[in-house]
Amino acid sequence: MSQTPFSSLKIESVHAREILDSRGFPTIEVDLVLSGGKLSPALGTALVPSGASTGEGEAIELRDGDKKRYQGKGVLKAVANTNESIAPALKGKSFPSLEALDEALIVLDGTPNKGKLGANAILGVSMAYLRAVSRATDTPTFRLLAEIYGSEGTTLPVPMMNILNGGKHADNGLAIQEFMIVPRGFDKFSEALRAGSEIFHTLKKILHDRKLSTGVGDEGGFAPNIPGTHPHEEVIKLIMQAIETAGYTAGKQIFLALDCAASEYLAKTSTKERTLYAFEGRDITAGEMNAIYAGWVAKYPIISIEDGLAEHDWAGWADLTTQLGSKIQLVGDDLFVTNISFLKQGIDKKIANSILIKVNQIGTVTETFRAMKMAKDAKYTQVASHRSGETEDTFIADLAVGTDCGQIKTGSLSRTDRIAKYNQLLRIEEMLGSRARYAGKK
Ligand code: PGA
Ligand code: ZN
Repeated sequence: MSQTPFSSLKIESVHAREILDSRGFPTIEVDLVLSGGKLSPALGTALVPSGASTGEGEAIELRDGDKKRYQGKGVLKAVANTNESIAPALKGKSFPSLEALDEALIVLDGTPNKGKLGANAILGVSMAYLRAVSRATDTPTFRLLAEIYGSEGTTLPVPMMNILNGGKHADNGLAIQEFMIVPRGFDKFSEALRAGSEIFHTLKKILHDRKLSTGVGDEGGFAPNIPGTHPHEEVIKLIMQAIETAGYTAGKQIFLALDCAASEYLAKTSTKERTLYAFEGRDITAGEMNAIYAGWVAKYPIISIEDGLAEHDWAGWADLTTQLGSKIQLVGDDLFVTNISFLKQGIDKKIANSILIKVNQIGTVTETFRAMKMAKDAKYTQVASHRSGETEDTFIADLAVGTDCGQIKTGSLSRTDRIAKYNQLLRIEEMLGSRARYAGKK
């Protein structure tokens, strides 16, 4: 039962502004002020992330489309919707719960995909409200989330750290978007983080010594052009070398994960009947793609593959799940878009066994919780995730601990937009003290 006195908190004001994300494109920031709490007035602020390899089923991120401003990517309409529609509708009101506030926003929008007000506007208000309640009641955000979600809120998540970027997040010709290391043999989150950082910097030296670029992509991982006919396996080998050189044991302390974001490398020769993938110079079937993944899984300590096939290729996904679903985690990102209707279909058809959780794919914290609960009930694992376009907002760190979901994907070991989340997890670990439990404990 909720102890937080939501009903006694009154919304004094809601105000949005246009700010910039980690790519230098506009996004929305929302301030929400509550009165009536322990601290009054209490300000909550939230910054909204933005994806590049987006799933088709995502809630609508409203952009102005005015080519004269920010190449059409301005968010002044979403800002105006917040300040002129949402703010007057909420001002002076109290809500008995976060769910009630989120439902009011959904009703105000009135469309199935938040296309009228914009999922960016709605999510900004949903998160800012939560933050304001946290301040007004002097409850850390992760504890408040735990109370609302109904969990312990003591689990530090295993990070999936994207140390080499490809796909839409880089310009290096790699089809696969994310090559991640997963530190799972450690007592504490902070030790796992340290291992990740040491491996990242070792990889930098290896790339440098091979005269490969050490410039980074959108999520702070390296983005070199890898020569040869099988550059993807070459990347895996480089990362394996970095793990060992840094003094860690691959397959015992450090594992590998991929986010293929395969919807982004569909072959032009694909037809309605047959999905083909443009991979390493050839157009290949889902069966051939799956055979490549299975070969890697047999050879390397890969424990998770996200979006190994395109979001519409459910037949390919079914085959992938049959082949690898009992061995490794198969995460649906573009496939499920944090949406219970897509997830339900996946569960019914036994497709994938895990879901990526991105708050802006669905647009409210409450609906995010619904997707997480549905996944949990079906024994699908969950990964709280950032977007490639991020900000200094650390909400997903609190979300991962607050729901005890056990995993987080928040990029590499460089760039403040990624590190901010890791730093927040360090703070939470310290705050929890002896109650903290690392999900990747050896
Ligand atoms: P995106 O990438 O934020 O560009 O969609 C992240 C992911 O695919 O997981
Ligand atoms: Zn993804």
